[in-house]
Amino acid sequence: MSKLALLGGPSSVTAPLPLFRTIGRRERELVNEVLDNGLLSGFFGSWSPEFYGGAMVRRLEEHWATMFGARHAVSMNSATSGLIAAMGAIGIGPGDEVIVPPYTMSATAIAPLFYGGIPVFADIEAQTFCLDPAKVAALVSPRTKAIIAVNLFGHPAPLAELRALADKHGISLVEDNAQGILARESGRYAGTIGHIGVFSLNVHKHIQAGEGGICTTDDPALALRLQAIRNHGENVVNAAGITDLTNMVGFNFRMTELSAAVGLAQLEKVEDLVAGRQALARDLSAGLTGLPGVTPPEVRAGCEHVYYVLALRIDEGALGLSRDLFVKAVEAEGIPLYAGYINPLYRLPMFQQRIAIGGGGFPFSLDPGRTYADGLCPVTERMHDEQFVGYEICAYDPTPEQVAQMVAGVRKVVENRRELSERAA
Ligand SMILES: Cc1ncc(COP(=O)(O)O)c(C=O)c1O
Repeated sequence: MSKLALLGGPSSVTAPLPLFRTIGRRERELVNEVLDNGLLSGFFGSWSPEFYGGAMVRRLEEHWATMFGARHAVSMNSATSGLIAAMGAIGIGPGDEVIVPPYTMSATAIAPLFYGGIPVFADIEAQTFCLDPAKVAALVSPRTKAIIAVNLFGHPAPLAELRALADKHGISLVEDNAQGILARESGRYAGTIGHIGVFSLNVHKHIQAGEGGICTTDDPALALRLQAIRNHGENVVNAAGITDLTNMVGFNFRMTELSAAVGLAQLEKVEDLVAGRQALARDLSAGLTGLPGVTPPEVRAGCEHVYYVLALRIDEGALGLSRDLFVKAVEAEGIPLYAGYINPLYRLPMFQQRIAIGGGGFPFSLDPGRTYADGLCPVTERMHDEQFVGYEICAYDPTPEQVAQMVAGVRKVVENRRELSERAA
């Protein structure tokens, strides 16, 4: 009998991986504070102290701003809402181009569309899966209004370089930092280097509130515009002294007191939670170092990676196995790896058929020459179609024994790759 689980042998991981669950006593305490008080949301959609939300929302925002050294933190009901609000606050309008990576969750690229903005896809760097600044620079045009950098998998994009590029052209840098809480570049927190940073508190992240998002900014005018878009801003522009009505059409993107209570309790322990995820990722990376054709995550000099996802690269030639067969064999060992992350976003029907807002092609109709054909971002396509293999660091909480079993399982697949490829042929 083969040693490989895929070929009938025993699997390396002998018990299901526990899930990463971090809700505890402090979350209950703060939620109970809200329940005892009975005010589950403190927002009013009109000009008053309550325009800025309830007591727990404000405590969360204050704590967040202090922690990240940002002048303002504006909570939202999700990072998706935060990205949309950010596009509104910086003044995106019909036909404006916004440079985005294609390898990210879809919210990054759809946020500009709500204001008629056109997503322009720039390719990524293979080592970190984040935007390649040279590719971004080559795409800046007179219509470019913003860049959205994604700190993908918890690794900072080249933020200082992108900020310098944005400043040079007088455009905005927005950071989609949904996956990168406490990541740093040259000691500065990801999410605070762009004009606006957007964090996620959805259930899958290092810290969570079920759903939720936070925008950070040092610019008080942008903070006010974010607050207005969050909460029916059209009603308050006169009272708030907002004279530029661009995008002052508000939504209800408000966070509840209950979510804020959970978010605050989680924020209080974020350093420990992130350090635990980093230790896990480093143990797995160390265990997988030196295998032929398997490259553990690379960290750019001066960066702190927080490993939302452990992103491996597979070189099929050096490994002597197809990536997909490798993943199948590793999965059979009880290790939930997956091949490819999110299909490069320009392959979505929305971009292929150029239908987004209404059925008439808006806003793509404002930019008739642009195509979203395959080949647009070859590095992204190569990573997705051939090389990327991921493991969700924030989904599972394996014991040290299981970490050793996981490493042994991957090593077993690599050691037995010849048998595997012969049996698969
Ligand atoms: C990179 C990225 N951007 C944006 C989002 C959207 O976050 P939310 O679910 O809080 O709206 C996510 C969520 O997974 C994400 O990973």
